Amino acid sequence: MTPDLDAVSSLQVTGAGPARGSLQVPGDKSISHRAVMMAAMAYGPTVITGLSRGQDVTHTLRAVERFGVIVTDVGEGRVRVEGPIRHEPADVLDHGNAGTGIRLMAGVCAGIDGLSVLTGDRFLRRRPMDRIAEPLRSMGATIDGRERGRLAPLVVRGGGLTGITYAPKVASAQVKSAVLLAGLSAQGPTTVEEIHPTRRHTEEMLAGFGARVRVDGHAVTVEPSELTGTDVAVSGDPSQAAFWAVAALLADQGEVVVQDLYTGYGRSDFVGVLERMGADIDFDLATRTLTVRASKLRAVELTAEDIPGIVDEVPVLALAAAVAEGTTVISGAGDLRAKESDRIASTAAMLRAFGVQVTETEDGMVIEGVSRLRPARVDSHGDHRIAMTAAVAGACAAEGTTVIDGWDSVATSYPAFAADLVRLTGAGAEPGA
Ligand code: S3P
Repeated sequence: MTPDLDAVSSLQVTGAGPARGSLQVPGDKSISHRAVMMAAMAYGPTVITGLSRGQDVTHTLRAVERFGVIVTDVGEGRVRVEGPIRHEPADVLDHGNAGTGIRLMAGVCAGIDGLSVLTGDRFLRRRPMDRIAEPLRSMGATIDGRERGRLAPLVVRGGGLTGITYAPKVASAQVKSAVLLAGLSAQGPTTVEEIHPTRRHTEEMLAGFGARVRVDGHAVTVEPSELTGTDVAVSGDPSQAAFWAVAALLADQGEVVVQDLYTGYGRSDFVGVLERMGADIDFDLATRTLTVRASKLRAVELTAEDIPGIVDEVPVLALAAAVAEGTTVISGAGDLRAKESDRIASTAAMLRAFGVQVTETEDGMVIEGVSRLRPARVDSHGDHRIAMTAAVAGACAAEGTTVIDGWDSVATSYPAFAADLVRLTGAGAEPGA
């Protein structure tokens, strides 16, 4: 396996066999973004271990450097970050493909007395920003940009904020986090009340950095606070483990063990979904180890209640549904149309390419399980999770050669994915023609 496969625009995978073996996945991407931003806002140094080395988090590191924050690679997978951010950035903040990066950073910038310009790649510039612009404006920030600030590049003039109580219209940890990060420098308390609770990384980490934060049911309140640097150990990303869980399930003799995973709230609900589908799967919270063995799967119904806990796992769960017996119905997932790609359309197109019958609905899809997939040519639409799902399908469930165009998107979150795929499945992988 050559590392060059991380950057190829097209990957050819020749399967299909079982996934077998044990591995660690990259550090959690959501936690990594937050660790870098809070470290940058904090007084005193922070050493982060296990940081995600994907391009998304690298963009966050480069962004905090624009504020004069010092980022040092201190070896053995550790990064030292020393702030604090005191003034506006020297230049434009480029967040690449990272929705979490730009939205959370907009919250940070809203709290700074000065001007910040935030942008990203062509995919990110199409994603809605009004969900964070609206509450940040009501706290007192001025936010402008294309289509009246609905789309990046965003121009944020921050400072002089007042705390608010806000109930996001979409279930979104990014919105919650942007508002809470801005709230650190607002006058008075800032509360976010969620209808569908989302991942809790921001409130958990704010407490670790010494902020005055309290959780009351589905409401989180932050008081104006100064952060203090503290060392952070980032656990493995459950969303990346989900690819290997499904890989193990797809072919007879499959068995995968993933170690050192984050075990906190709202990130491993895919385990429960796969259990409902009949999977032999065990997530041992004490050892933080996920074990999955090949199983015969049955269809499942996923509704709005399920989605916040599996928001990033829908493509790979849809692949599991594609080989399950019966008809899987996914609904209440309309916000997936605003992810790295329109993930309802791109997931449906991917599965159709593998010979699966899928009907798209406005807020989900209906998937008819089949016994075998046929090899496919798939377009990732610039979406790392579509690319990785297709690679798993090609390596474990579709005999023959599958080609994934737009493979380079995988480097945003999981640079060594192709190497892990080859090691676990024995599939052939080479640049696609
Ligand atoms: C994330 C929240 C989710 C998720 C994204 C990471 C986060 O997005 O899809 O990959 O780190 O807060 P939304 O807030 O848009 O649901």
